Order: sequence, then structure tokens, then C-alpha cells
Amino acid sequence: MNASPQKQEPFVLPIISHARGVYVYDQDGQEYLDGCSGAVNVNVGHGVPEILDRMREQMDKACFAYRTQFRSDPLIRLTQQLVELAPGDLSHVEYCNSGSEAIEMTLRLATLRNAQAYRPFKCTVLTEEPSYHGMTSGALGASGHPLRRRHLTPLLANQVTVSRVRPKHGALRASTQDWEEAIHRIGPANLSAVIIEPVGGASSGAVPTAPETMRRLRELADEHQFLLIADEVMTGLGRTGRWFGCDHADVTPDVMVLGKGISAGYATISALMVSDAVVNELGQPLNTVLFGHTMAGNPLAAAAGLAVVDYLRAHEVPAQARHTGEYLRRKLDLLRSRHPIVSDVRGVGMQLALGLHPDPARFPGRCLDLTEAAREEGLLIYPAGVTPALESVLVTPALTASHEELDELTRRLDRALSRISSSPAVEEQALQAV
Ligand SMILES: Cc1ncc(COP(=O)(O)O)c(C=O)c1O
Repeated sequence: MNASPQKQEPFVLPIISHARGVYVYDQDGQEYLDGCSGAVNVNVGHGVPEILDRMREQMDKACFAYRTQFRSDPLIRLTQQLVELAPGDLSHVEYCNSGSEAIEMTLRLATLRNAQAYRPFKCTVLTEEPSYHGMTSGALGASGHPLRRRHLTPLLANQVTVSRVRPKHGALRASTQDWEEAIHRIGPANLSAVIIEPVGGASSGAVPTAPETMRRLRELADEHQFLLIADEVMTGLGRTGRWFGCDHADVTPDVMVLGKGISAGYATISALMVSDAVVNELGQPLNTVLFGHTMAGNPLAAAAGLAVVDYLRAHEVPAQARHTGEYLRRKLDLLRSRHPIVSDVRGVGMQLALGLHPDPARFPGRCLDLTEAAREEGLLIYPAGVTPALESVLVTPALTASHEELDELTRRLDRALSRISSSPAVEEQALQAV
């Protein structure tokens, strides 16, 4: 017999059938508990009737209107809601279709602001490594995410002048001092903007920025006239247990970028919210300065966004997320105590992650193994971390998940951890005890 090497079957994604609440079903009848809300965006679960009804109503009226030809009622009301919820004077809103597009538009805004003020030298954008701001060239150029940037250098060259701040050895995120040193190195006069995730997403695995760092960056931005841009694509609209990640530090950025949380997976819409001060400086309304995209702010997406924000308000979802996040964190702490492969539990509110001890021989390794093992247990989680020290999985179910659903998530995650390590699964009663 021929001893040919065994060929590995390529993994073929299952075909989705339908989804309700935190559960997703494929066409083979397999059930998955969505422990990461898709890509940390399905924040109120799937198939919420109040949201679907409002989308159907809008579909019957008009799905599309071009932004230079019409306004729409849902977009006007969504804007009012966002302005009411946002901190400080962030009262100017422009819409895009994705987080990446909104970051890209923000980079254009920062550049145009300095061009108008005859400061062409003020063009460096300072971001952190680890960070992730999107896959379009400007947004990826700004991202401190070596894995996603790999082999793309020719595309990213000259997109945006980026400087990077990195945490000192042993730390997971840059400290206030690291930021101050980086700003000093660039020369504050040359700095156009700082972009920061108030709580890290897939790049760091939910490592928060210290509130005092946010506050110090606010001071430095005022002092040196660069824009403080908060990338709240993942954190915005309740994920961290407050309406916005910046609220934890009581800081109002100059620009806040929103994405995933606005429509919670029901449609494609994202936004940037810009302060009165920046718009006054421009001397023109934002929409005459920033050109946009065909589908941006279309009435159907706006109706979905408005329905989601109404739902978040009516059910006080950010406060729910705070309490549910405490419950989930206790469960994850228990898993950490049982599975030596877990290094730490981190995050804020319902933006949580399990840190993993890296496999010295393979990176990324453990997070992919665990994600695959979880899928085999009928659980979806999200691999994260751009360096071995940050290797982790995001555990970010819907903000509205019940305690029973989180118990089930914990049981499946426990079995998945047992599959990739030698530690035994936790006794059922022990998991229930928390
Ligand atoms: C913090 C952050 N910024 C930007 C993006 C890009 O958003 P999108 O995938 O909608 O383009 C993401 C997506 O994961 C994100 O987490």
C-alpha cells in the first residue's frame, strides 16, 4: 500500500440558517452560542422583534436616499439621540458604512484641518501598538497590528505619516509616560492627531487604557492643538457598561468614531462625532468639507440604528452590561483558577477577554486552538492579541445575555479549555456556585 502523507481537509465554514438572541444555527442543525456577538457587534442579540419591525416599516417607505439630495427622518432622529448621549460638545455627526470608513474620514478631517490653517507640517498621527482601526489603507496604516499589516507595506507607504507608541517591556498597553515620551520624540508641533481605543479590542484582547492616560492625552491635545480621536467602534453604545468608553475617564475627545454598536449587526452604519470647537475652526459645516460614500446614512440603516439606540435606552442596556459583566467576570475568574493555560481575565463591562499563556513554539497558537475547540463545543469566541504576551480570546456575548445563557457559555468554554490543555473540566456544581 502506498504510504502517502495524510491530506488535511480544509476547514469549510458552515452555512447559517437562522439566529435568535445569543444562539446561531447552521443548516446542519448545529447550534452555536454566540460568545463574541459576531465580531463584537451583535450587542442586543439576533432577531429582536422591536428592531425588525422598525426596519420593515422603513423598508416600505424608502430604503435609499442619497445624502446630497435628501435628509431622512430616522437619520435626523438618530443624530439627535447620539448627540444627546455623547459627552461634551460632540454635536456634529457624519455617517459612513463601516468602522474603517469612519476612521478613514477622521484622518481626512485631521489633515484638512491643518491644511486650512496653513500647518502642513502638522501631519503625524500617533497610534499605539497594539491597536486596530480598520482594514482600509489609512485605517490599517494607523493600526498597530503587525499581523493584519503583514505583506501590505507597499500599499500602506505614504498613506498616512504614523508614529507608534509601544508599552514598555512587561506592560500590555502604553502608559501615560510612554505617550508623553512619544509625543516629545515626534515634536508636538508636528502632531496632527492621537487615535486611541479606550478599551482595546482584538489587538490587545480587551486591555483597557488607564483613565489617567486618557485625561493626560486630553490635556496634551489642548496644549498642542492636535486632535484626540477616540476609536469607539467596539466600545461605543454600551459595550463597556457605560454609553462610551471615554465616559470611564470623564473625557470628551475631539472626535469619537462609532461603528459596530450603532446598528448592532442589523445594518451597516458607522459615524464620526465631531466637537463644536473643531467645526468652528473649520468654519464650514462638516458635510461640505468631508466627502462621503454612496450608501452612507441611508434611511434603512438609519432606521436600524435608531431602533437599536431606542432599545438600548428603553432597556437601560449599558447599566445591564455593567451588572452582567460583573457576573461573567466572576465566571471567567473561576475558569482561570481551574485552567493553568489562562493567564488572566481582563476588560471592562462586557468587553472581556481571557489572557492565555503563549505557546513558545507557535504564535498565534493557543487563541486559535481555543477558538476551534470552542466551536466544536458549540461556542463562538474571538481570537485576539498581536504579540505572544497579548495572546487571548475575547468573550463578549450580547449585553442582554441572561445569567442562564452565561452559565451555558461558561460550561462550553470550560470544556473547550479542557480540550486544549490537560486540565479537567470543572464540576458542574462548581461552575454553578459562582
Ligand atoms: C476598534 C476598532 N476600530 C475599527 C474597526 C474597523 O471596523 P469595521 O470592521 O467595521 O471596518 C474595528 C473592527 O473590528 C475595531 O474593533
